[in-house]
Amino acid sequence: MKIGVIGSGNIGGNLGKHWAKAGHEVLFSSRHPEELGSLVQEAGENTKAVSVTEAFEADADVYLLAMPFKAINKIAELYAGEYGNTVIIDATNPYPQRDGEMAQEVRDANYNASEYTAMKFSTAKTAKAFNTIKAKHLRDQAFRNSEKLTIPFAAQDEESKSITRQLIEDIGFDNLYIGSLSDTRIMDPEQAIYGKSMERTALKELVDSTRIR
Ligand SMILES: NC(=O)c1ccc[n+]([C@@H]2O[C@H](COP(=O)([O-])OP(=O)(O)OC[C@H]3O[C@@H](n4cnc5c(N)ncnc54)[C@H](OP(=O)(O)O)[C@@H]3O)[C@@H](O)[C@H]2O)c1
Repeated sequence: MKIGVIGSGNIGGNLGKHWAKAGHEVLFSSRHPEELGSLVQEAGENTKAVSVTEAFEADADVYLLAMPFKAINKIAELYAGEYGNTVIIDATNPYPQRDGEMAQEVRDANYNASEYTAMKFSTAKTAKAFNTIKAKHLRDQAFRNSEKLTIPFAAQDEESKSITRQLIEDIGFDNLYIGSLSDTRIMDPEQAIYGKSMERTALKELVDSTRIR
């Protein structure tokens, strides 16, 4: 697959490296692509650094959102004509200290952060994944053959669901489907499975326990 990474730091940088290792084509982007040279060198062939505009113009199969949450509005607006019906995997989290008032509003709203992203990227098919795992575990625990850590994910439709599941499995993590975007409250900051790195059975038990209260 061709994957456009929007925001190439702890999360986007490491996920992109893993996907490239798994054989995918990766476009790393940020506001300063000229600073992404060493990342591209490390990630190897099949990767390059581009501007955010170029990433969207490249018509990727899927885009990973891995920049600060506060950038969502502008990116969704600026590239509305470019992302069309592609799949967006949202790894962002609203942090008011970093992202300001709009993040607090989303935290206080009666919708989940993933639903906010889906509203903004209206025509795209949005999935939520990789937002609950600690960056260090994402970096160090990929490609395990046993005792795999599990990435919980949610998706808006069948296509975003199957692509996201595939991209989790391709880099040696297990996956747990949480449901539609309306089920992702438990994945948001400070909620039940946020920051939890677990194997599948334990994670599923934890998810199930949140549903029988
Ligand atoms: N760190 C974690 O443990 C963790 C875990 C799960 C999820 N997350 C979430 O994932 C997202 C990224 O976190 P991170 O830790 O990877 O952050 P990070 O290391 O600071 O990386 C952020 C990346 O986004 C780029 N960026 C910033 N503003 C941008 C914009 N307006 N447009 C395009 N790119 C932009 C930055 O580069 P430039 O400044 O050069 O543009 C940088 O490449 C956040 O929403 C965070 O809450 C973090």
